[in-house]
Amino acid sequence: MSAAPHSSSPASASPAAPGDANALVAAVWPSRATRDDRGVLTLGGIPATELRDRFGTPLWVLDEDEVRAQARRARSAFEVASAAHGVAARVYYAGKAFLSIEVARWVTEEGLALDVCTGGELAVALAAGVDPARLGFHGNNKSELELRAALDAGVGTIVIDSFVEIERLAALTSGRAAPARVMVRVNSGVHAETHDFLATAHEDQKFGFTLTDAVAAAARIREVPGLELVGLHGHIGSQIFGTAGFVESAARLVDLHAALSADAPLPLLNLGGGFGIAYTAADDPTPIADLARGIVDAVAAECAARGIPMPDLAFEPGRSIVGRAGVTLYSVGTTKPVTLDEGLTRLYVSVDGGMSDNARPALYGAQYSVRIASRASDADPALVRVVGKHCESGDIVVDADHLPGDVAPGDLLAVPATGAYCFSLASTYNYVPRPPVVALRGGEARVIVRGETVDDLLARDAGYTGAARALLTSAPESPMEGTA
Ligand SMILES: Cc1ncc(COP(=O)(O)O)c(C=O)c1O
Repeated sequence: MSAAPHSSSPASASPAAPGDANALVAAVWPSRATRDDRGVLTLGGIPATELRDRFGTPLWVLDEDEVRAQARRARSAFEVASAAHGVAARVYYAGKAFLSIEVARWVTEEGLALDVCTGGELAVALAAGVDPARLGFHGNNKSELELRAALDAGVGTIVIDSFVEIERLAALTSGRAAPARVMVRVNSGVHAETHDFLATAHEDQKFGFTLTDAVAAAARIREVPGLELVGLHGHIGSQIFGTAGFVESAARLVDLHAALSADAPLPLLNLGGGFGIAYTAADDPTPIADLARGIVDAVAAECAARGIPMPDLAFEPGRSIVGRAGVTLYSVGTTKPVTLDEGLTRLYVSVDGGMSDNARPALYGAQYSVRIASRASDADPALVRVVGKHCESGDIVVDADHLPGDVAPGDLLAVPATGAYCFSLASTYNYVPRPPVVALRGGEARVIVRGETVDDLLARDAGYTGAARALLTSAPESPMEGTA
């Protein structure tokens, strides 16, 4: 495997050296991140060095207050924008961005609904005690088992992705007392302004029905007694900064919505998620309130132009709720200067995690930034590439940033904006156990997902005799310490 050639973020390969390589760019870090008198990074009021000493590295840190605040902000943005046109908005948190029992509780306590896309994610939501009526169930290949589980649980909405699934649901709902509420996922054909792999509304991809096929899908669903078609669903991609793609897709969906509403009411329109966040100083995403207003106003205008009432709206932000709340802490193991063709020197800084805890740079060239967390330094900035410990040259955590040139083994590094799609995309490549997740709230830190041990990994191996039990288990503190 090699690194993808593109970047999902516009940071350049060799960003300009910052005046101060200790500075924390506000948009990229959790809002309470700062440096204390000693120059140590503090997260949620706790020194990063204390987090390292208690929980070890690598460590996924999630600022609960930040997640909750972002959830409230998103909910308010879409509710206010929709209320201005006299309709309601339901905001689902897209669980694929980061899902654990605690996180499911935080977002639902903040009034969000929850979107899941596999039986596993459904199980987490139910284990968290989320009201099934507030769940949306996605996925392009839901199995019979998963669909039956969703129906038995009383999931609020199932988003249908294929003709095969319609027939699967027709069979599964036959004889049930109440019809299942379903939506049709539509591939609007809009190309989101983002990396190809993230743009899910191209014609030539696996998700949803084309605008033409969606008409036939809706007609077939309306024939099935066990199904109630409540609306259309569209999602154009992820990490999108401007409103143009959303507005264009919304116009196409409203067109289809108008045609299908002529036969029977469609009370709902779900426009998905995909709202971008800043990963580096070069990123400038549109504030969520502006995006919400732009998209909702566009839907209102499209409905008015067709003389149809506006449906209630739904949205599914994931990254924009959890992304900025996450910071990954790593310990530096080795450093190695490499002279580049242009005569520049790039300092390779190897850390104790890598593509197993953050697959995004290897998957789609995602850009991140980095700071030394354990101290501030006056040393001149050096161009660095932070790499992991895995056996892949594409095992890059931070492709290009500047750190104080005296960065050295033993330093603690912090990579911000790792709350979304890092924990959820993690692997155990090279038998590197996945780190714990520590949540911060009210000046306290607690483990919400314990770290894996090598023993956990070996436990699945039928040949394991227990001979290596406890080998390499070095977490300084009991992994579940502090868990509520
Ligand atoms: C259907 C659907 N909804 C919502 C999301 C969440 O996107 P984001 O995390 O970019 O907001 C995704 C992400 O892929 C998705 O596929």
